[in-house]
Amino acid sequence: MGSNQMIAIWGSPGSGKTVVSMKLARILASKQKTVALVLCDLLCPMLPALFPTVDPKEKSLGVLLTKADMNQEAILANLILPNDGEFLGVLGYKKGENSSSYPDYTVEKAADLFLLLRHKVDYVIVDCTSQLSGDDLSTVALRDADRVLRCGTADLKGLSFFDAQLPVLSMNKDFRVEKHLKALSGFKSHFPKKEVAEAYGGVDFYLPYVEEVERQFLEGRLLDPLKTTEGKRLVKELKRIVLEVFDE
Ligand SMILES: Nc1ncnc2c1ncn2[C@@H]1O[C@H](COP(=O)(O)OP(=O)(O)O)[C@@H](O)[C@H]1O
Ligand SMILES: [Mg+2]
Repeated sequence: MGSNQMIAIWGSPGSGKTVVSMKLARILASKQKTVALVLCDLLCPMLPALFPTVDPKEKSLGVLLTKADMNQEAILANLILPNDGEFLGVLGYKKGENSSSYPDYTVEKAADLFLLLRHKVDYVIVDCTSQLSGDDLSTVALRDADRVLRCGTADLKGLSFFDAQLPVLSMNKDFRVEKHLKALSGFKSHFPKKEVAEAYGGVDFYLPYVEEVERQFLEGRLLDPLKTTEGKRLVKELKRIVLEVFDE
């Protein structure tokens, strides 16, 4: 598929969307591809959770989206460069911010941001919020991305989420829901794979439950490599996603 591609990651709450986004970003950046990771969550701003040792100063996705002249310069000014890496840049909300922190931005502004990012980097990864109404950035990402990875949990709550939310998306052809790739996160070895796959109408990727991931999440170290056997199994499956979506 080549470069300047965009993937949106969306799904039920707690389904590993953020973990998958971070790990995909890491895999691509370690291939020396430039990556922009956009963290849409404004209910729980993710910069302090994912990068607790990084001081974002005044940088925020909110600042960028409400700037009158959003351009490459403004993007650079709001981009976090974790680990001083030259390949990965992150846009997200910072500590204490919420939906009242900024004036509303337009759908066009959100679309412009993704266009600018595509011009700038090889790959754009968008970690969308589960709740799409009220989050235009996630909604536009789902509409404009080359591929959407839909994450779910292998339980009735996950199924209930999609039963409730998919009909809304399906009403608009622009969202091409039938093209979404489907992944189950935190999949444990004793889970009934066949039944779960049936209930989900097919599953493309099974991402195993990995204790090491949980620890990395708690410690704000998700960009670190996974070293355990289970962790490596997860990376293998994530690399299958990278191959399928980006041909990398
Ligand atoms: N593959 C995995 N193995 C173990 N724990 C996971 C895995 N993926 C996600 N988690 C854990 O599940 C919780 C929710 O993950 P997160 O990525 O924040 O979900 P979401 O972004 O969809 O709300 C976190 O505590 C995270 O550590
Ligand atoms: Mg999340």
